[in-house]
Amino acid sequence: MIAPSILSADFARLAEEAAAVPGADWLHVDVMDGHFVPNLTLGLPVVEALERATAIPLDCHLMINDPDRWAPGYAEAGSRNVTVHAEAAHDPRKVSRDIRAAGALAGLSIKPGTPLEDWVEVLRDYDTLLVMSVEPGFGGQKFMPEVLDKVRTARRLVDTGHLNVLVEIDGGISRDTVEQAAEAGVDCFVAGSAVYGADDPERAVEALRDQAARASAHLAGR
Ligand code: DX5
Ligand code: ZN
Repeated sequence: MIAPSILSADFARLAEEAAAVPGADWLHVDVMDGHFVPNLTLGLPVVEALERATAIPLDCHLMINDPDRWAPGYAEAGSRNVTVHAEAAHDPRKVSRDIRAAGALAGLSIKPGTPLEDWVEVLRDYDTLLVMSVEPGFGGQKFMPEVLDKVRTARRLVDTGHLNVLVEIDGGISRDTVEQAAEAGVDCFVAGSAVYGADDPERAVEALRDQAARASAHLAGR
């Protein structure tokens, strides 16, 4: 799956920017509050408007403090998946229940320095795991290959039936890095600058998907 991140799109033309990636599986929406991360982006009113403007399922990535309070609203708005940060949630199990009760998949994200081991038990209550491959806050940063060990571990836990999550990666995914992420076992690739910085965003999505599929072909039937 490919999830273009609208963080790298033109915020004044979000509906057109969504329409520019018709082949996207999910549209990744980075919600930043200026506290959990230094950057500030958009919030629920924009997500509600975007939901009305596109048929692509929204994948909301909440880089905010107190997601316990705010996450269910993004699910009620119609998002397909709502991801909160493990480092920010007060009661991650309850957040997951609340997100699911509001009709969305529940996602848990871990920053590059956060060990996966600390969250494996909690992840039993989640549908998606978002492994950050840059420090959250900004698009266009350099991919951190060292996080792929966490992807490999998560992949193993899923393949052996210990976890049932979709493994997503976010940060620095491009033609240069998508193959190593695919080989490590990623299911869903978030890409901001690699899609919206391309001359043809639609083709960029297909190129990333083809490259990932080729790189992970040997994992099929695992
Ligand atoms: C960063 C965001 C990412 C960002 C990725 O904090 O979570 O979703 O849009 O951008 P690229 O793909 O340019 O690294
Ligand atoms: Zn993101």
